[in-house]
Amino acid sequence: MNQETDFIVRNADENDIPEVMEVNLRTLPENYWYGFYKFVLDKWGDLFLVAETDKKIIGYIMNRIEDARDPVLYGKENELIKEKKRSIEDIMSSFKNMFSESHKVGHVISIAVLPEYRKKGIGTALLNEAIKKMKDNYGAEAVYLEVRVSNKEAISLYKKLGFEEVRIVKEYYRDGEDAYVMVKKL
Ligand SMILES: CC(C)(COP(=O)(O)OP(=O)(O)OC[C@H]1O[C@@H](n2cnc3c(N)ncnc32)[C@H](O)[C@@H]1OP(=O)(O)O)[C@@H](O)C(=O)NCCC(=O)NCCS
Repeated sequence: MNQETDFIVRNADENDIPEVMEVNLRTLPENYWYGFYKFVLDKWGDLFLVAETDKKIIGYIMNRIEDARDPVLYGKENELIKEKKRSIEDIMSSFKNMFSESHKVGHVISIAVLPEYRKKGIGTALLNEAIKKMKDNYGAEAVYLEVRVSNKEAISLYKKLGFEEVRIVKEYYRDGEDAYVMVKKL
């Protein structure tokens, strides 16, 4: 139990899904159906965590593990630093990457904390615990996520934990907003 803020982080189980869905519906416009949560839980249950206080779920994080061939996603390249136009060498190198070895990476699917429990370190605790497990249990080389370019709170949390913006995906979200892809090397 965390003394200062009185919450625990633990693995989610199937009974938690309805409450996790409630937290998600209250906090994010990106919502999922029950079967998706169940699929993620069955496949990467050790990376599906909830924050709980007095038996109430106040936050969650769900993640998956992927095999990445894209060097941006495993933390080798940053498209936002490379300012030059894509040369023929870049195009050839992207083509080569498609056939190169894949790299294990963690992908944060969704993280949220109920508004009344924010700024107490819960988001940090969820993310840190998930990242540790990605590394220890799967040997992940990096962790990446997408975030709305306007989501100052989340971007600030990710930067504090060592993520950096590496790519912009235009109109990634349904409402047309762009996303940053942010990566942290492990
Ligand atoms: C992003 C979110 C998960 C952060 O959760 P949290 O429990 O409040 O995060 P923490 O208390 O661990 O905060 C850690 C850091 O995040 C940043 N941060 C969090 N809230 C912030 C705010 N309102 N303004 C500015 N920075 C903020 C700060 O850098 C903070 O460090 P500090 O406390 O030393 O200043 C939470 O705001 C949330 O659920 N937002 C809605 C859902 C969402 O946007 N999810 C991310 C989708 S990509």
